[in-house]
Amino acid sequence: MASKKRINAGIIGLGRAGQMHLKNLLTIPEINIVQVSDIFVDKLADQLNFMGITNQTRDYMDILNNPDIDTVFIFTSTDMHEEMVTAAANAGKNIFCEKPLSMSPDEQASLNVLKAVRDNNVKLQIGFNRRSDPQFDSIHQQVVSGTIGTPQVVKITSRDPEVTPHNIIKRIGGLLFDFTMHDFDMARFMMGSDITEVYAQAGRLVDPGLAELNDYDTAIINLKFANGAFGLIDNSRRAVYGYDQRVEVFGSEGMLKAENVSGSTVELYNADNEIKKNPKPAFQQRYKPAYIAEMRKFVDSILNDAPLAATGKDVIMAQRAANAAQKSIDTGLPQKVDTNFQL
Ligand SMILES: NC(=O)c1ccc[n+]([C@@H]2O[C@H](COP(=O)([O-])OP(=O)(O)OC[C@H]3O[C@@H](n4cnc5c(N)ncnc54)[C@H](O)[C@@H]3O)[C@@H](O)[C@H]2O)c1
Repeated sequence: MASKKRINAGIIGLGRAGQMHLKNLLTIPEINIVQVSDIFVDKLADQLNFMGITNQTRDYMDILNNPDIDTVFIFTSTDMHEEMVTAAANAGKNIFCEKPLSMSPDEQASLNVLKAVRDNNVKLQIGFNRRSDPQFDSIHQQVVSGTIGTPQVVKITSRDPEVTPHNIIKRIGGLLFDFTMHDFDMARFMMGSDITEVYAQAGRLVDPGLAELNDYDTAIINLKFANGAFGLIDNSRRAVYGYDQRVEVFGSEGMLKAENVSGSTVELYNADNEIKKNPKPAFQQRYKPAYIAEMRKFVDSILNDAPLAATGKDVIMAQRAANAAQKSIDTGLPQKVDTNFQL
């Protein structure tokens, strides 16, 4: 990555994801944080001033109208992504946005956002951070280079440590469109092939109150891929032992497997048990290297025209799989997924 060139950044949204990303962005020398915005920014003023970020605003348009800013990072709740990415593209800014691009299950809403990005000739990277995780990226590289022969089955276990607060779910979307969205993208990334069919079952085994949001906490999802392979996603919103994130790809010449990452490699063996440390507690800790790596790739794309880590097409494909999963749950039948993508 070039060391002298820098990008001048504005950051919008400083909730759970935004505060985490901000700390990570501060570690990247090529990023100069010019201004930040959140509707509740006043509550964070002391913390931000301590970090040396004194230019704070409640109105995100201040960032889009700021001529000193060339790149915006959008970490707001999903209900604002459509409006904000479109406005940022029209303001000529390069954009990093958390997934997904819209709360609407109608993909046309996301496609319209992508058209604004295309028409304004700006870059857009989507926050599919797991693609940049060193373990998962290594599996992907080895699958596509043929290390395990022809890939036949991908198995993804993805379990959160705690149910996301309901007020946040209302603004970022339910299990399939927010959480499993990562796994649909991971499955496609791991296989190097598009998802063509989805059969999903889901329920409320942890938090019956999710019925009020029409949401689920547990899902088992079968996939078929264009290359003839199969996949299985196993989701829960609550694993009492931590953030459970494992991937396995099985092929004609072997298997690749990534286990959980824990805080320590020390294991205790005694007369009764073998004990190892729990997985990292939550996304902020587990994927820290991935969050930093995805931002470095984004910067490299802006400064040196390197490929983006995750594109608009990737988010549309994941959204199609989520839509198919929802239809499958509603009908009890497998659903086809269209793999044609044109903007
Ligand atoms: N990639 C990942 O691993 C990951 C992890 C968590 C969340 N996310 C995504 O990040 C996004 C945010 O999720 P979260 O959990 O941080 O939600 P959150 O509710 O904790 O934070 C959202 C923030 O956006 C702010 N906001 C809302 N409207 C705004 C506006 N008009 N102007 C300025 N600020 C505004 C809110 O005040 C809040 O601070 C979602 O899209 C979610 O899917 C991604």
